[in-house]
Amino acid sequence: MWQFLARNKQAAAMVGVLLVAAVVVIVLSTRGSGKPAEEAAPAEPEDISEDPFEFSSHSLPSDDRFMPSIGNGHIATNIFSDTVYMNGLYNGKHGESRRARIPGYANVRLNSTLTHHPYSPIYSLDTRDGVFKVRVDRERSIVSQKIYAHRFYTRAIVNQIEVISKPHADPNFSHHEIWIAVKLMPGAPGADLDMQDPVAEIIHGRQVWSACGQTKESEDPIYQPSPVSVCAYWTSVPDHLVVPPHGSRVFTFAMTADKNKTVARTEMEQVLQADGAALFTSHVEHWHRLYQQAGMEIEGNLGLSKIVNGIWYYFLSSLPSEQSHQQQDRFYGLSPTGLARGGTFDDYEGHNFWDTEIWMYPSLLLLYPHYARLLLQYRLDTAHVAADLARRTGDKGYRFPWESAFTGSEVTQPCCPEVAQYEQHVTGCVSFAARQYLAVTRDEDWLKNGGCSLVTNIADFWASRAVINYTTGLFDIANVMGPDEDHFNITNSAFTNVVAGYSLYLAQYVSCLCKSYYLTKNPDHWADIAWSLALPYDETLDYHPQFSGYTRPEKIKQADVVLLGYPLLYAMNESTRRNDLEYYSSVTRDSGPAMTWSMHAVALLQLNESAEEALRASHEGYVREPFKLNESAEEALRNSHEGYV
Ligand SMILES: *[C@@H]1O[C@H](CO)[C@@H](O)[C@H](O)[C@H]1NC(C)=O
Ligand SMILES: *[C@@H]1O[C@H](CO)[C@@H](O)[C@H](O)[C@H]1NC(C)=O
Ligand SMILES: *[C@@H]1O[C@H](CO)[C@@H](O)[C@H](O)[C@H]1NC(C)=O
Ligand SMILES: *[C@@H]1O[C@H](CO)[C@@H](O)[C@H](O)[C@H]1NC(C)=O
Ligand SMILES: *[C@@H]1O[C@H](CO)[C@@H](O)[C@H](O)[C@H]1NC(C)=O
Ligand SMILES: *[C@@H]1O[C@H](CO)[C@@H](O)[C@H](O)[C@H]1NC(C)=O
Ligand SMILES: *[C@@H]1O[C@H](CO)[C@@H](O)[C@H](O)[C@H]1NC(C)=O
Ligand SMILES: *[C@@H]1O[C@H](CO)[C@@H](O)[C@H](O)[C@H]1NC(C)=O
Repeated sequence: MWQFLARNKQAAAMVGVLLVAAVVVIVLSTRGSGKPAEEAAPAEPEDISEDPFEFSSHSLPSDDRFMPSIGNGHIATNIFSDTVYMNGLYNGKHGESRRARIPGYANVRLNSTLTHHPYSPIYSLDTRDGVFKVRVDRERSIVSQKIYAHRFYTRAIVNQIEVISKPHADPNFSHHEIWIAVKLMPGAPGADLDMQDPVAEIIHGRQVWSACGQTKESEDPIYQPSPVSVCAYWTSVPDHLVVPPHGSRVFTFAMTADKNKTVARTEMEQVLQADGAALFTSHVEHWHRLYQQAGMEIEGNLGLSKIVNGIWYYFLSSLPSEQSHQQQDRFYGLSPTGLARGGTFDDYEGHNFWDTEIWMYPSLLLLYPHYARLLLQYRLDTAHVAADLARRTGDKGYRFPWESAFTGSEVTQPCCPEVAQYEQHVTGCVSFAARQYLAVTRDEDWLKNGGCSLVTNIADFWASRAVINYTTGLFDIANVMGPDEDHFNITNSAFTNVVAGYSLYLAQYVSCLCKSYYLTKNPDHWADIAWSLALPYDETLDYHPQFSGYTRPEKIKQADVVLLGYPLLYAMNESTRRNDLEYYSSVTRDSGPAMTWSMHAVALLQLNESAEEALRASHEGYVREPFKLNESAEEALRNSHEGYV
């Protein structure tokens, strides 16, 4: 167990990093009508729990985007939504590729929570046990519902409803059975999958439905010649749960889904065969092993502690189990809003971006290094597509796409072709993740199993992008875009050139362990280019202009040069770091995305300055109660302005 205390500076820095990581996993990019916490009216439901690992409330957020999610890396859903998503299930061509919606066969509702009732339910996200709970205290019974994505039977989402009858003062009632109305609300079949009609069968004495189908449109005809199949099984749900007087009972309902029908069916059999209590216990045991393997303890600040625990809960819900009943499918990456979302533009369509390597990866690497390797594996699995992309654009080695999903081909949304064309730093970010991975783990086995190829091909890409400038005697990289998306087609983006330089040096660094890749070349070639790469620096003002030709005081969208100090750890004089920080904080536009002030908080801590304000700015007003989901700054701000107009 890693233990950090917030009053210690280093720990606070970690919190900053984690908050940033969370931006990515749980930011709900909101194009709707949500308002940041201060403006919100009616008030957001309050979190009434004093437990740092539990978020409880008497009511649910009025906006579904702030409902919590459950997931196990294979399958996930937003609580009470009519949609389930699965790892590696996408529909739509090129930029239209998005997570394919499976109807919500896991959406079992208690009628007493559907309409206004005299009973006041309590809703809790219990991150300690990895379960969403509903508790309704009625005249004659206590009804408790648990909803979880099983961490061992990973194809399954389980609903368990326990009804405990209460002793009743009125003897006339005590002979009656207790009836609890329930309803399965899966929603309409949906547009992403061609599903066949459901078929009923009996499994272990239970009526079970199944339906199989295929995605309608392939992401890319070259890399995905045929559609992807998916099969779902679900138990039928009666209108009422009936419990004898004085009795109590647990009712188990499940949904399973997989690309392989046999796998989905086997999983349903296992779940139905298991004893209800044991089924839950095995989920909790597997979740504990994961969730309690690492973490951060924050003392004396319940609010912050809940946010950080929430971050890890949402993070791990999108990552696969370490042990599972049946073999796991390939892992298709971590998308900004996680596995439970990704059907819409607002949810980044479930695509992978540089966010994976730069924003989510660092904290996973320190606390869960095997997941860091898994994230790199997604890039290795799609490397042949990156090689084709480099060839098509006249470059060498691997060029990773700005957005990728199922095949690894470029799936940037049709709105924004510039980011796909220019934001090439994503390829350097993959190499930077490899560099950090090797620094932390010294995993030579990884190098032999694809790492050498990844590292050297990325170096080849940058070597082909760097062009000598005979005026300066330095190498330039032109026609790019840095993290600041307000400027494109620029030359020598400071961020891009630093990740490119690191990529080149890394290839030289690993060369003795990757000899077979250097039969025909001299590894020092890469280092020579890295050494002579241009990095904009203004001697008079002692700061880094963001690119060649940047003019002060042009506004920028988000932290860019500031990322050189952290996370890139690029060595520079303290005065330069301070000047970069001060200057860019004054020109970052207010409506930028989430990824700025947490980086400033880290920088201030590196400079031994108080980071309290920056840390607060990085999350306050954006974390939505009661389930600690985050709204992106851009939208929160737009919404708050709209609120005033
Ligand atoms: C129980 O039922 C009987 C007959 O229907 C009725 O007379 C009596 O008042 C009831 N008792 C209560 C406590 O309602
Ligand atoms: C439960 O609620 C659903 C949806 O409102 C409704 O269709 C159903 O009839 C209700 N069931 C009972 C037994 O009231
Ligand atoms: C589906 O899973 C079963 C059981 O694991 C396996 O025997 C079979 O080969 C799989 N089918 C496909 C098409 O992968
Ligand atoms: C070489 O660098 C100089 C100085 O930065 C610049 O003005 C010039 O445009 C560059 N030449 C080319 C061919 O890019
Ligand atoms: C990008 O910059 C190059 C010069 O490096 C120029 O030739 C080209 O027209 C620019 N493209 C756009 C779309 O501005
Ligand atoms: C850092 O500071 C030292 C001493 O003031 C100076 O000699 C050096 O040039 C500076 N380095 C850079 C990159 O500005
Ligand atoms: C929430 O969003 C804000 C602004 O978008 C971001 O700066 C912050 O780091 C995020 N915080 C958490 C806890 O996710
Ligand atoms: C910050 O403080 C630490 C510990 O006192 C010291 O080692 C470090 O050099 C300081 N850093 C700066 C930038 O002043």
